[in-house]
Parts: sequence; C-alpha cells; structure tokens
Amino acid sequence: MSDQTHWQPLLEAAQAAMKNAHAPYSNFKVGAALRTIAGKIFAGCNVENASYGMTNCAERTAIFSAVAQLGSFEIAEIAVVCEQSVPCAPCGACRQVIYEFGPKAIVYFQSAGGWKPMAITELLPEGFRLK
Ligand code: THU
Repeated sequence: MSDQTHWQPLLEAAQAAMKNAHAPYSNFKVGAALRTIAGKIFAGCNVENASYGMTNCAERTAIFSAVAQLGSFEIAEIAVVCEQSVPCAPCGACRQVIYEFGPKAIVYFQSAGGWKPMAITELLPEGFRLK
C-alpha cells in the first residue's frame, strides 16, 4: 500500500522520534518508524557522538529497539523522515540492516520527486545473507 493515509501513523511516529535526535555535529535530524508484520510500530532517531564513527542512524535505532523489545520480528514497512526538505533515502548500511529484518519490506522516504515507496530489494539488490 502506498497511499498517504496508510503511511500517516508511521510518518507521525518517525517525526516524533526525529524531534529527539541527537545530532549536534551534523545538525541533520532523522527519524524512522517501522511496522512489523504483526502490526507493532517502533521508532528511532539518529544518535551522533563526538567520535563521529559511533553515530547510529535513525533506521537502525528503530530496528534495534524492536529487537530489544521483541527479539524476533519481520519488518513490513519502514518510513524515514528528515528535518530538511531534502531527499532522505536510507544509507547503504541501513539498507542492509533493513533487509536482514525485512527482506520483503517497503521503504517510504522523501525522494527528489516527493514521497516514494520502494521495495528494499529495489534499494538493495542482491542483499547479503549467510543462507
Ligand atoms: N542518517 C540517518 O539517520 N539515516 C540515514 O539513512 C542516513 C544518515 C544520519 C546520520 C547522521 O547523524 C546524519 O544523518 C548525517 O549524516
């Protein structure tokens, strides 16, 4: 499903989490929210660090939060928002992590052409798996 009504709860959860982003170095606040196939929603924001490489993206924060709460789950959909009106597709590392927990996930994000749903397999063809 790609209609705005369907995505609204995820966008709202992502926007609420984005407000808590810890992004004093980039000033680029990001929020993400996922829906599991069982219908539960988990949100996350980017968390930066003075040691820049320690930064955790919003998508991975949301996914790791779901892991902490549920252990096992599958992502049906994940939405990504950012504060600026710029394209905000998940980074390569997050695509791989989304794929691990949602090989059939749909990702909804702000593209150069507006809000866009895309299958994770389109964003990450030939994602890495051990089996
Ligand atoms: N960021 C995310 O949270 N998600 C992405 O997919 C790309 C980048 C964050 C990391 C960093 O805190 C800021 O955006 C600027 O790179």
